[in-house]
Amino acid sequence: MKPVKVGLLGLGTVGTGVVRIVEGHQEDLSNQVGSSISIAQILVKDRTKSRNIPVDASKLTEDPWDIVRNPEIDVIVEVMGGITQTKEYILEALERGKHIVTANKDLMALHGPEILAKAREKGCDVLYEASVAGGIPIIRTLIEGFSSDRITKIMGIVNGTTNYILTKMTQEGAAYSDVLKEAQELGYAESDPTSDVEGLDAARKMTILSTLGFRANVSLDNVSTKGISNVTQEDIQYAKRLGYEVKLLGIAERQDDFISVSVQPTMIKQTHPIASVNGVFNAVYVHGEAVGETMFYGPGAGEMPTATSVVADIVAVVKNMKLGVNGRQAQLSYNVVKLKTDEQ
Ligand code: NAP
Ligand code: HSE
Repeated sequence: MKPVKVGLLGLGTVGTGVVRIVEGHQEDLSNQVGSSISIAQILVKDRTKSRNIPVDASKLTEDPWDIVRNPEIDVIVEVMGGITQTKEYILEALERGKHIVTANKDLMALHGPEILAKAREKGCDVLYEASVAGGIPIIRTLIEGFSSDRITKIMGIVNGTTNYILTKMTQEGAAYSDVLKEAQELGYAESDPTSDVEGLDAARKMTILSTLGFRANVSLDNVSTKGISNVTQEDIQYAKRLGYEVKLLGIAERQDDFISVSVQPTMIKQTHPIASVNGVFNAVYVHGEAVGETMFYGPGAGEMPTATSVVADIVAVVKNMKLGVNGRQAQLSYNVVKLKTDEQ
């Protein structure tokens, strides 16, 4: 198979990790897929900015269409963020038969159905493992690992920034604004961290998880959402004295044909396994009728954990290319189910 050419949209926290893994693990990746994978072009906002890794300046462009319309590019890896323009680039790339790997939960939670429909039409892959819970392969697990079961509950800490903030406030008595700044410096937070602290990022991730887990069309509008910006040091210490930790929890439940999804700061017993998930770590608890209780744990944000999931998706795309089965995942179709809010 000829070398696979990747166009990378974005060279920030996640994009840098993607370059490091693709270059650093090149031999192992080629052995797995039977061809070399090369990053042929990279989109940035500012070509003159100094970077954390050496990059061939001739690969950098500030014009997304250079990559989207480049006939040599097989796979577009979108790690630039944003919604409206990004969707336009992705739809155009799909129209041209390119496969997509994205870490963008904002885009997938809002426009996933439209993007996947285009992928279906074009026989292309759209994979988005990194969009939820960074380095935990939870999307693949829900789609493939639980295909035989009927999931009744998905509960989790799915935002690394807020878990980092709550952990530091709990364990060190640190001030909310100082820890938020730290999380931004560490590359955990979104470009606008309001979406982290107000629970929107977690709500978008719970939309994706509940759609996949319940095989239902869950919309972001149906997720009742509250963030941590009003959680005080007093709340946390009071909960602690009573034997609880405060965590930002996403909870999605199915009862009969009804689904409810919410995100809110929650007091959780210190003896519960989720209470000991600290720092930037995430955990997703999944209950299935047949399997019972399961839990998945790992780093939820940051350069290398997130890039691990992105590059695993690139490998999956290339394996599918080799087998001629791209677009397999986009074939999934979901039931329209009633959401709890429909009852009201
Ligand atoms: P980031 O550090 O802000 O990097 C964004 C990159 O995209 C930068 O290289 C920037 O160029 C480029 N870019 C942004 N807008 C652009 C535009 N309009 N035109 C050209 N280039 C543009 O972001 P990140 O933290 O890597 O996150 C990227 C995506 O991954 C987001 O969707 C985020 O939600 C998702 N994600 C992030 C994490 C994480 O831990 N950070 C984890 C999971 C998912 P310059 O470098 O020139 O500014
Ligand atoms: N801002 C997100 C978080 C990045 O803190 O979890 C990973 O999706």
